[in-house]
Amino acid sequence: MASKMTTYPDVTRYCFYRVHKFLSAFLAGFEQKVAVVDFTNAEEVAKITDEFCNVKDLVFSHAHFEDQNIHQLLRDKKSHAHEMIESEHHDHDAIFENMASLLQEIKNNPSDINLCKQKGYEFYLEYRKFYGDTLLHLHNEETILLPELQRVCLDEELRTVDAATYKILTPEQMLGMLKTAFPNFNYWDKEAFLISIKLAQPDKLTEIWPEVVKIVSIEEMNRLSAALEIHEGVKKAG
Ligand SMILES: [Fe+2]
Ligand SMILES: [Fe+2]
Repeated sequence: MASKMTTYPDVTRYCFYRVHKFLSAFLAGFEQKVAVVDFTNAEEVAKITDEFCNVKDLVFSHAHFEDQNIHQLLRDKKSHAHEMIESEHHDHDAIFENMASLLQEIKNNPSDINLCKQKGYEFYLEYRKFYGDTLLHLHNEETILLPELQRVCLDEELRTVDAATYKILTPEQMLGMLKTAFPNFNYWDKEAFLISIKLAQPDKLTEIWPEVVKIVSIEEMNRLSAALEIHEGVKKAG
């Protein structure tokens, strides 16, 4: 069977989806947590249910952002490349409803040990499948949608999506976003993120820069200062 060659996006051009590095690490972390839950222990079930709600919020808000903003660029260009991806987003409702109902069954029957064990295992399997499917979904967004976006849009057009977000975010929210994402980024992801902020909201970047230097290494700070042309002497302690 002939294998299909993957189309890779041009990493030197404007790239969406860097945040996928954070998302996949977050989903992986939850898979590890679910794996060790004792579903006959009500306290552990309550804790994993809270975390499951956080996973759901993140997955839904990420998909909503893509549908409303990134896919709109493709709709504007009369491209249909996003339709398969968007239909996978719509599947999230049923998938999360099913997983939530398994947790609810466990909560409704705390003294039925075998049921708690069984439904807990089913929850783990369903989540692990969702996690695996999502990794492929992210791969398709970056190897199907991103090359298509780069083909039909100018970088200036691609920038408008993140620029709209940076306009709304306060400097504190912007910094919170960087603190969340940076542990999963390499140097070039950090540089690209900060350059896109600088182009869209230079004053906000100036405001958060003294805090940004605290979440990067000294070497990265020096490289970023040069790339962002920040010359004012913000010294990093240590
Ligand atoms: Fe997506
Ligand atoms: Fe995505």
